[in-house]
Order: sequence, then structure tokens, then C-alpha cells
Amino acid sequence: MKIILGVGGGIAAYKSAELARLLMQQGHQVTAVMTDAAQRFVTPVTFAALTGRKVLTDLFAIESAIDHIGTAQENDLLVVAPATADLLARLAHGLAGDFLSTLYLAFTGPVLLAPSMNVNMWQHAATRANVEILERRGHRVIEPGVGYLACGMTGAGRMAEPEEIAAAVDREARAGRDLEGETVLITAGPTEEPLDPVRYISNRSSGKMGYALAEAAAARGAHVVLISGPVHLSPPHGVEVIQVRTAAEMRTRVFENLEPAGIVIKAAAVADFHLSHVPDQKRKKTAARLSLELDPTPDILAEVGRQKGDRLLVGFAAETENLRQEARRKLESKNCDMVVGNLVGGTETGFESDENEVVLVLSTGDTVEIARASKREIADRIFDEILKLRLSLHSAHEA
Ligand SMILES: Cc1cc2nc3c(=O)[nH]c(=O)nc-3n(C[C@H](O)[C@H](O)[C@H](O)COP(=O)(O)O)c2cc1C
Repeated sequence: MKIILGVGGGIAAYKSAELARLLMQQGHQVTAVMTDAAQRFVTPVTFAALTGRKVLTDLFAIESAIDHIGTAQENDLLVVAPATADLLARLAHGLAGDFLSTLYLAFTGPVLLAPSMNVNMWQHAATRANVEILERRGHRVIEPGVGYLACGMTGAGRMAEPEEIAAAVDREARAGRDLEGETVLITAGPTEEPLDPVRYISNRSSGKMGYALAEAAAARGAHVVLISGPVHLSPPHGVEVIQVRTAAEMRTRVFENLEPAGIVIKAAAVADFHLSHVPDQKRKKTAARLSLELDPTPDILAEVGRQKGDRLLVGFAAETENLRQEARRKLESKNCDMVVGNLVGGTETGFESDENEVVLVLSTGDTVEIARASKREIADRIFDEILKLRLSLHSAHEA
């Protein structure tokens, strides 16, 4: 694959040299494009030596006969690492004052962005809005990790490791659209079970894992139907999103959309209990103790499991202890093909985090551990395993 490696002016520019080396090792042709600020951190000589190609830096150096339009047309993928706050803003708003941002506008292939910056810069409303624009445009943002930052602060903002970025590039190059022609049904987020017209019971699910799965499946060419409880996330690019509130609504929508789905992933944290008879009026505050009698909600996963047919069914088990045993028990009792077990309750992985660490329990008896990574990266690994599992189930069936 022919790759443009855009290097922005951040501390992590030195890590981008390692990324260039890894991409070369994977057999890609790499052309580095450096911003003026990037060259204050690392010299073009480093990238020229690693890639064996001229490094592009100057929009007006047209005497070299390598211009931004030609470069955009000749290459298959654009990776920007590190993507500075400034670059994210320029790319989001279509500014074209330098080689990299002008080339970006002329480029029509897939774009991967690996942001890196101070935690406050990353969390600033301006950066959040720019990232949202770029994601909506269908670009893949490789979430920065949490940890010690060069500025001395600790938090989110550290560029993903070169290995993780290279793996994302490799996947783009290798797998491409291996879910083309598939319909994937995914549920995500919590449900809200009303107690009266203004109160409800819910849980801490953020929906991030389900949304990451939807984004990954769409990027791999699937038609994705995402049935989502109430969350604060933007709909992933190219995904059909159906918003629901309660477990009962989620059940209805799942069965309405089940028929064409070949892969069903139930990542939603559906409430286990609800109030069957919700009062029409708000409950008044009194000094008396309030007891609520809750009834079980429908077990959507078990119901889908009973009428699974040829579908591949994936459940999620969010547990605070005995993860593997609980995941295995769920797999067997709900007739799933895979259960993704993740420990929740901590702060660094699980519900609200951008990262996760999971164990996949498979109906073949195998388990696969996926070490801590961004939820988007985990989502791709889950689809890799789903496709492998489906192949082995088919060949076992035919044998
Ligand atoms: C020492 C130093 C470190 C910096 N590190 C970062 C960084 O990690 N991320 C970032 O977004 N900006 C960082 N900046 C600010 C950018 O260099 C600055 O916004 C510049 O305009 C980015 O230009 P570019 O986006 O064209 O590369 C840093 C600046 C300095 C002086």
C-alpha cells in the first residue's frame, strides 16, 4: 500500500519515526509529509532515511515536480501522527495553508488520525468539536491513551503507541471490507426504566463499546443497524441508528430488525428490572419510606438465542468478579457463539472509559484475551475473531 504519513508539530513526532519504520517493515511505501512545526521537533532527514523517499514539507516547492495534488492521487491511505490540536482544527475546517492540509483536501482515500496533546487541549470544547467533525466525515481517530504526558500532567492525550497505529493501518490494508454484503445488528448503551414521568432507573453504560463496534463494522463494509439506548455519542458515519429508551422498546426494535442480520452483537447494558405499572403523575416527596416492586425485563439475548438460526450471536458480560466463569455461563445459558467478558467497576477500563481489556469466550471452548487498547481497536479485534469463529463453525458443521 502507498501511505502518506503526515507528521504534526507535537512532542510525539519522535514516535512517528518509529511508526514510519514499522510501516516500512510491513511492506508499505511511505511518503512523509511534515509541517513546519514538526520539523522543529524532528528533522526531515530522519524520515527520509527511514522511508527512502523525499520528505515533503513545502507547498510552494513545485520545482521538485512533486505536488500536493499528485501526491494525493498516487497514495492509498493518509495517516496523520501526531495529529496536533492545530492540525485537527485545520483539517476539520478545510484550511489549506500548508502542504499537509492542502493535500488532505485533495485526498479521497481513507484517513487515520492519531491525536497527541496535553490533556486540557484534548478535552477542550474546540478540540472535541473538531474531532467530532472529522469522525462524522468517516475518518478514523485512533484515540490517544491515558498516562503520563510530556507536559508533566497525567490524563488522556498521549499518542497511541506506534504498534497500535501500525496495526490499524495494516488492518485497513489487509482486511479492507471483509464485512461487505453483511447486515450486522448491534445494541448499545443503557436502557432507562421509568419510575414515574420524571424519574428512571438506569446504569453507567456509556455506549462507547457498542458504538465502536458499529463504526468498525461499517468501516469493514457492513450494513450496520445500531439500536441504542440513551447515550451522549454521535452516530457513527454510515450507520443506521435506532434510538430507544426502555428494555421493552429495545426488544421490539431488535426483533423488527433481526431477520436480515447475519451477525448480532448485544453490547447494550439492558436493565434487568423495571416497574410494570408506571404512575401517570410524579410521585410526591413524603417522609415515608418508599418501596418499589420491580419485575424482570424481557431477556432479549436469551430470546434471540432461542431463534438464532444461522446467525452468529455475540453477548457481553460486564462483571465485577469471576469474569471467565460468568462469561462461559452466559454463553451456554443464552445459546451464544461468543461472549465478550469485561471487568467493570474500575476507572481505567469498562463502562465510561475510552479503553477496554476483554476476554472472548467462544462456543468452540477456546478463550481469547485482548489486552488493553482503545475500544475502537478492541472492536476490530472482536470482528477478526467473529470472522475466524464463523469459519471454524462452518467447517465443523460440514465435516
Ligand atoms: C515544546 C512544544 C510541544 C508541543 N507539543 C504539542 C503537542 O503534543 N500537541 C499539540 O497539539 N501541540 C503541541 N505544541 C503546539 C504546536 O507545536 C503548535 O500548535 C503548532 O502550531 C502545530 O503546528 P502543526 O499542526 O502545523 O504541526 C507544542 C509546542 C511546543 C513548543
